[in-house]
Formats: sequence, structure tokens, C-alpha cells
Amino acid sequence: MSYSVAMTSEWWRTATIYQIYPRSFADSNGDGMGDLAGITAHLSDLQELGIDAIWLSPFYTSPQRDAGYDVADYCDVDPLFGTLADFDAMRAEAHARGIRVIVDLVPNHSSSEHVWFQAALAAEPGSAERGRYLFRDGRGPAGDEPPNNWESVFGGPAWTRVVEADGTPGQWYLHLFDSSQPDFDWTNEEVREEFRRILRFWLDRGVDGFRVDVAHGMIKADGLPDYTPPAEGGSMGGAGGVADGSEEALVEGAVGVALEPAISDEADGAPYWAQDGVHEIYRDWRALLDEYPGERILAAEAWVDPLPRVAKWVRPDEMHQAFNFAYLETPWNARALRTVVDASLAAFGAVGAPSTWVLSNHDVVRHATRLSVTEPNPQGHGLGPRSKGIPEYETGVHRARAATAFMLALPGSSYLYQGEELGLPEVIDLPDEARQDPTWFRTNGERYGRDGCRVPLPWTADAANYGFGATGTPWLPQPELWSRLARDVQRDDPSSTLALYRDALRLRREHAVGAGALEWLELDALLAHEADAADAPAVDASSVAAFRNGDVIVVANTGSGSVPLPAGVVLLASGPLDGDALPADTTVWISA
Ligand code: NOJ
Repeated sequence: MSYSVAMTSEWWRTATIYQIYPRSFADSNGDGMGDLAGITAHLSDLQELGIDAIWLSPFYTSPQRDAGYDVADYCDVDPLFGTLADFDAMRAEAHARGIRVIVDLVPNHSSSEHVWFQAALAAEPGSAERGRYLFRDGRGPAGDEPPNNWESVFGGPAWTRVVEADGTPGQWYLHLFDSSQPDFDWTNEEVREEFRRILRFWLDRGVDGFRVDVAHGMIKADGLPDYTPPAEGGSMGGAGGVADGSEEALVEGAVGVALEPAISDEADGAPYWAQDGVHEIYRDWRALLDEYPGERILAAEAWVDPLPRVAKWVRPDEMHQAFNFAYLETPWNARALRTVVDASLAAFGAVGAPSTWVLSNHDVVRHATRLSVTEPNPQGHGLGPRSKGIPEYETGVHRARAATAFMLALPGSSYLYQGEELGLPEVIDLPDEARQDPTWFRTNGERYGRDGCRVPLPWTADAANYGFGATGTPWLPQPELWSRLARDVQRDDPSSTLALYRDALRLRREHAVGAGALEWLELDALLAHEADAADAPAVDASSVAAFRNGDVIVVANTGSGSVPLPAGVVLLASGPLDGDALPADTTVWISA
């Protein structure tokens, strides 16, 4: 298979990578579900936006119990999304446009419809077929209690009991997620060999890398000991975000930021997360990827903290990148931002890896809402009609724009999630009957889950389904707000969120921001150069995060009042400026 994207060395250190959630991106055939042909049709829009690579959430054969993160065949495309030929066409078109293609790999678990799991169900306890998964006998005299007390990330027990071939209640299997997602036993060499085959299958088809799902979960502690997670823990294994920006949240460290970064090497905490054995798997994969030309990459989805532990995933012989969820979970607060940026650069820098930055993805409340929510909202719980503390749209997006302008000025690689460039907020008022996230069902509606960030995109204000698909009914209903936020309405409006993203990405390239280095600046020092500084009233600079990156100075005002704007040519402003003042919730890039 040809491999045509022009190579630059270590492109991933500075890349802006755009996450496509295929089912919600663009629907080419009117079945209400986005597809690969829909992606191909809109690659020109992504090229115009100025991203370097796309990462596609799973499009493989799947019963879609967890929106494709339940894979039944790792080497084929689900008919919902098209065919392998559609994938090849999409990949070729992306490469022709200079866009690299990263696919999702889901190695912690398969779908219960995978042939291996079906064979395991049909086989005897102790058989080779069962040995590919984590089957165990139950506890109690009749074996009718689960083998341990672990809970599923989506709520409820992490074990399900099977009925044996003779009709009697039998063994239990482990599923850290939905019961339709049985965990593989990664101590089994057959599982390892199968995933080498899967990696090669996609590398041979020309993919530029893999985002590795649950990269902290594949190895479980010997003996599968009981474990009760802390009540405030994040569902995926991190500290759990409380993005209300309150001083208490910061002081308590509840934002997932290591305010006093502890360098701990111990695999403390849950016996199913961050076990040392996972690293051996990634060393093996790295060697395999390095056989291929063109800097193919591995990016870890590892909800682990503090940051020095995350950095273990990106040691020189392991993965290339790890998602920086500590950054995602940081509130819009100058002090917290400085803390997490310093901790990130130090932790990743210590192992020679770039830091990544991310504000939104398909698992979290969109940052146009999340950063302004005034009530605690743990990751994974989602927001819905009963939730409190939801911001007005304008308030939320104003802050989100400032947060994005800050993020895109940081050295390293940034991830964007489809729709954030349109300023899409979380959709709060989805009707109960429309919700599809297993979290919603497994908690009997107690947690809304993640559907609110997965609503199909608006492309064209006046078209059916806002241009998502010409016919059919989108798999989640789109709100009326989409008519104001559709891409065609924003394209030629220089004050739109789309224009802000486009400008930021262009400037990022022109000023080589991704490859730069960060030096914090104090607002007072920046203002001291100004002629009338002596007469100026004292400024409360505690809500300002300012830094220099190469020839760009970035000033973010996270407070509630204006601060003076340092002199210089404004290259980018996340919102309207007020004469010589930088208003609240606004970030500027100034020519140094
Ligand atoms: C993380 C994925 O991002 C999420 O969407 C999925 O539900 C779980 N892993 C399980 O695969």
C-alpha cells in the first residue's frame, strides 16, 4: 500500500490532531449515522481548518453497545460506517491533503460478539478458549457471588455470570466496562500475538498511528484482589474532575492536577489500572511500529495521575504521546493553569516526550459548557435536564474560546474534538428516550453519561439535519442552537469561533509555537515597559496567566474583571478587547 504523506521528522511532537467521532461527523447515506464516506467528503473543511492529523474513534464491526468501543472484528469496517474500500479511499484522500490518519485500537476488551468470546462461552471452564478472557469461578458455596468486588466504570458490578453449555449457572467473566465488553487476559500470549496481527493489518493499510483505548487497564494485579475506589475518583481512573474553578477544588487537588507533583513509582490504587506489566506490551508494539516507515505513532488513553506516572507511558521505547487529562480537568484559573502546565512540561520533558494538551473529547462534557459549570460534575456523569449550575451559552463559549486560545499557544501537540471549532456546547436537554450511553442504562438514569457531547455536527444552517445528512433522522436529536452554530454560518464571519480556531492554527504554524519553549511572564513586568505605567492603578494580576513562546506573548485573563492589555501588535484575541483593557475570560496573543 502506498504511503504518500510528506514526512517531517517527529511530526507528532507538535501536531494538532482532530478527533473525529464517526457516527456524529457526517452521514453520507441517510441512515442517521455518520460514516467514512461522510468523512472523506468533508476532509477539505478540515484541511481549511489547518489540522495536521485526524484520529477516528472506532468504525470497526461492532454491535454498538458502547458506540463502537465494543469491537467484534478488529480488521473490518462495520456496515454502518461503510467498507474497507471506503476506509482506503478516506485514508488516501486525507494523505493527499497532507492529513495523517490515526485509528483507535481497543485492546482491553472485545465485544461479547467477537468470535473468541462466543467460542469461550461455548467452551468448558479451564479451556484455551476461556483463557483468552478473564473467566473465574464465583465466590460462596454455590459460586453465585462475583469473584471480587470490582465495579464497572459504567456502574454496577464488573462481573457477569454465564450459563454453561449444560444450562447450569456457571463461571463469571470480567468486564471493566459494559457486560458486552469482556476484558482480554493480556497474560495470554495468544492475545498478544493477535494484537500484533491487528496492528500490522492497519499499518499495512497506511495508518499513521493508533490511539490506544484504556491503555492503563490491560494488566490486572495477580489474584484480582478486592478493591473499593475512593468516592471522589474519576470513573476512568484519574483523580476525577470538579471543574468549578473554586479555590477549595484547587486546594483539595480535586481537579486531578498534582499541585505538589508527587513522583511515585508505585502502582498504588486500583488493581486494574496502571499495573507495571502494561509497559512491556507497549515496548513490544513500539518495536513493531518502528519497523514501518514514516513515524507511525502510539497515543495512550491512560487516565492515571499524577503526571509523572502518566509519563511512564511515553518513555523513549514506549508510546509517543499520552493524553494529558490533568490539563483537561484543570479549571479556568490562572494559578491552576500555571501549575498544570509546569507539571506537564516537567513530567513529559523528563522522559524526552512532548506534552499533549486537550480540552474536549467524546467522553467528557464539552468545554464550552464544562469550564463554566458552577456545580461539581465528576467526569463520566454528564449533564442533563436535572443538572444544576449550567452556564448560558454565550458565557460558556466566551470562556471556552479563551481556554482554547491559551491551549493552542502551548508547546507540544494539541488534540481537538470535532465541533469544538464551532463552539458547540454540551447538549443538556436530550430526551431520556434518546440517550444511548451504557452509563445511562447501567445507573438507571442516575448518571446522564456522554451523549450530550456526541450530538451530530451542524454543517449547513438551512439544510435538513443541519447538513449532517440529507435525509434520515440523526441518531441523537440536534438542538435548534445548531442553526446559529453551523459551519457555513461561521465560515465567513471573522468573529466566529471557527475563524478563531483557523487563525490560531495558522499562527501556531507560522510562529512554530508547537516546537517552542515556554517562559512565564508577570503582568506587572509586561506593563512596566509602558510609558504611563507609573500612573496606572495597581493591578490584581493573580488572575492572569502570561507566557512567552518564541516571538509570541500570550496573556490570559481568567478573572472576573478587566486587566490592562500589554502593548504590542495583537495577533489573536479570543474575544472583543476593550480599548487598552483585556476583559475577563479573554486570551490574547501579542507579537513579542
Ligand atoms: C474509553 C473510550 O474513550 C470510551 O468512550 C469507552 O467507553 C471506554 N474507553 C471503553 O472502551
